Amino acid sequence: MRDESGAVIRLEDYRPTDYLIDRTELDIRLDRHATRVRATLHLRANAAGRPSAPLVLDGDELRLISLAIDGRPAAPDAYEASPERLVIHAPPASPFTLTIETEIDPTANTKLMGLYRSGSAYCTQCEAEGFRRITYFLDRPDVLSVFTTRIEADRDEAPVLLGNGNPVKAGDAGGGRHYAVWHDPFPKPCYLFAIVGGRLDKVADTFTTMSGRRVDIAVYVEPGKAGDAAYALDALKRSMAWDERVFGREYDLDVFNVVAVSDFNMGAMENKGLNIFNDKYVLASPETATDTDYANIEAIIAHEYFHNWTGNRITCRDWFQLCLKEGLTVFRDQEFSADQRSRAVKRIADVRVLRSQQFAEDSGPLAHPVRPRQYREINNFYTATVYEKGAEVIRMLRTLIGEEAFRRGMDLYFDRYDGTAATIEQFLSCFAEASGRDLGHFALWYEQAGTPTVTARGHYDPAAKVYRLTLTQATPPTPGQLEKSPQVIPISLGLVGASGADIPLSPPATEGHAPGVFVLDGPSATLTFTDVPEKPVPSLLRGFSAPVRLEIDLEEEDLLVLFRHDSDPFNQWQSAQTVATRAILRAVAGDKRAADHRMADALRHFLAMRAASDPAFAAQVLALPTEADIAREIGHDVDPDAVHHARRLVKAEIGAALGDELAELYGRLTTREPYTPDAAGAGRRALRNACLDLLAAGRPAEGEAFALHQFRDADNMTDRFAALSVLSHLPGTARETALAEFAERFRDNALVLDKWFSLQAMIPETGTLERVRGLMSHPAFSMGNPNRVRSLIGSFAMGNLTQFNRPDGAGYEFLADIVIALDARNPQVAARLLTAFRTWKMLEPGRRALAEKALRRVAETPGLSPDVADISGRSLS
Ligand code: ARG
Ligand code: ZN
Repeated sequence: MRDESGAVIRLEDYRPTDYLIDRTELDIRLDRHATRVRATLHLRANAAGRPSAPLVLDGDELRLISLAIDGRPAAPDAYEASPERLVIHAPPASPFTLTIETEIDPTANTKLMGLYRSGSAYCTQCEAEGFRRITYFLDRPDVLSVFTTRIEADRDEAPVLLGNGNPVKAGDAGGGRHYAVWHDPFPKPCYLFAIVGGRLDKVADTFTTMSGRRVDIAVYVEPGKAGDAAYALDALKRSMAWDERVFGREYDLDVFNVVAVSDFNMGAMENKGLNIFNDKYVLASPETATDTDYANIEAIIAHEYFHNWTGNRITCRDWFQLCLKEGLTVFRDQEFSADQRSRAVKRIADVRVLRSQQFAEDSGPLAHPVRPRQYREINNFYTATVYEKGAEVIRMLRTLIGEEAFRRGMDLYFDRYDGTAATIEQFLSCFAEASGRDLGHFALWYEQAGTPTVTARGHYDPAAKVYRLTLTQATPPTPGQLEKSPQVIPISLGLVGASGADIPLSPPATEGHAPGVFVLDGPSATLTFTDVPEKPVPSLLRGFSAPVRLEIDLEEEDLLVLFRHDSDPFNQWQSAQTVATRAILRAVAGDKRAADHRMADALRHFLAMRAASDPAFAAQVLALPTEADIAREIGHDVDPDAVHHARRLVKAEIGAALGDELAELYGRLTTREPYTPDAAGAGRRALRNACLDLLAAGRPAEGEAFALHQFRDADNMTDRFAALSVLSHLPGTARETALAEFAERFRDNALVLDKWFSLQAMIPETGTLERVRGLMSHPAFSMGNPNRVRSLIGSFAMGNLTQFNRPDGAGYEFLADIVIALDARNPQVAARLLTAFRTWKMLEPGRRALAEKALRRVAETPGLSPDVADISGRSLS
């Protein structure tokens, strides 16, 4: 156990290290229970540090076997070693070496940080602070070292031995063992270190870079699964080409390897030249992966690859700067996916995620700035705020300074900071220089937590032909930040005339900005548009130009004008969502016929016009706001059951009103063409399945029959699972039979069974908690595997609003039990599960009290990990 005094780490306390480690030589002899690691560190005093300070190296659950200083065994009084620290009291004159031998047990490593076993392989995860579980080190991102790694293992057990950088040597080590030496010429922080050893299959290819260098690329998977890695390899090649074309970034080593493992705490990891992935984001075949899985694989392969420049070549000075690499890299992967698929649909999907994850986080007790100022446990800051809001901040920056200046700023950043550990200030300075603008005020986006609300009020003066739009902003208080200042909010907008066309804007933009971009940087401002020939409908926040809540007093008719005509597809979709949200809110308030006919008429018209030409977009329009969206809209004293019933009512009304059209469209979209995972096919499937879902809500008997047929008839997982998902909401024998058939058909595929666990955990019925408990003893379930835990327990806690929030509190108590039990084994995954309570304060008083009680029980459990102690503590604050 790490000795955890619960110390708070603060950004303002940053100071450079006293020592640097120029070179690191590792000799790792893999063994299931007793892996020996010999590290030779080439150290020198840091001119920016304190002279002759003791050297304090980080450790975590380490056992020191031997220590030599400058090649000679260290005297016992020269140092002090504990599992979490190695202190050299008076290091010799600079430069000097330390040779440290440690022994670790990868099999006992259930935290999945450091070196551990996944299946029959050895692998590592070092970000954020896992390297200190392998050897004593200055485990912080501003210590950059050149690593040479020798890996030795039983040849039978681990014929494949992979490390960072380029392979330099391999051979026999005697006694049935062999070795490989890898050298990474690029100095890197130890969180980017990785090795893999095991019996693995691979798919391989080559990529020729823009300057003509040949790179050997490969994806390694468990034996027998190579066929399912082809799509990941293809996505990797497309990512490499895209980063050259769009950002001018070329790959820099001779090899690039991706390894898929089945036990992984997060999504994937960008270790230099050796990305390690949760196999969920690598393995795909038409029979086992949905279109969404394919899109996620493409995005995450790209994300980790893009880190090679944004994260690895330029890393973070300290963990407070995490968004420097994560927000920027999410922005880059979003742009990549937008270019590979439909830009509008991608934007809608990204905003859905932003709102459901980040807005939820930002409005509760776990709210924090994109660049936090303090933390107790850094692993708890790999959040939607750092990642997704971090990406929105980059997107706003590009909107504000324009695409060309943005690209110049990126070039300058790569040029100036390559090979360094940088800060947000250094990053922003490049864009200030490239654009000639002062970004001081803009930088507040990194410092201030909370989602700003922008309120818009319009007034048209027909005599003067003037339209005035008054915009005001306010950000609610968040923990530790009670007073908020106005931020720089780019608002892309248009004025839509009765014909549906945009009215030319005069002025066209806030001075110095692209057409249609207006900047609100004070508490309020009034925009005055002249020569406006008719009363316009304002289309604000086009493309979701800023991560804010928009409040505008548009009439239903105005929203429907935007839905029909807005030239901005995002706002078309948004206006349909807003109309639906209002209908559901009316139903929550007791209105029995909430979805009025105008909405159904508009949808009918829309489907007639757009279903054929833009099915992926149409599918997004047909997908109603989620229960969580509605709950956030209500904001306080939420009764999840009321939200559920209201949404169900509106969905049934729309499904019934459009029944004929939906059935007809469903039939028309049914094809016998073989499955391909491309965007066009995915769009058609998405629309067809959205039709099925709505139809089943409006005409359950017909929907069930269609769904059952589709479930049995499908030749791909997208359609099969969509059908099962529709059936899962229709209680009865058809559902239970289909669930049983699915489990039998895929009993050997853990990733597919995860879908099956997840779907059942999200059934909005009182029996679900018992079902989930029962599934915990299913042979395929294991508390040791993060994917299993997330699909069953995570889906229940995060994806089942009514059942997690049961009025009797049983959902809360269940999650508390799980978190306490899991904490001893894997604190990171336990802490992540516990964030399901992040919105507890907006519940009605009865549930609020029960949620608080469960949270307190967790918080008061003795011996909690820092991870869970931090989340429970902040959740209660
Ligand atoms: N840097 C990884 C990414 O691509 C995330 C790794 C986080 N892991 C952790 N244990 N905190 O986003
Ligand atoms: Zn990342």
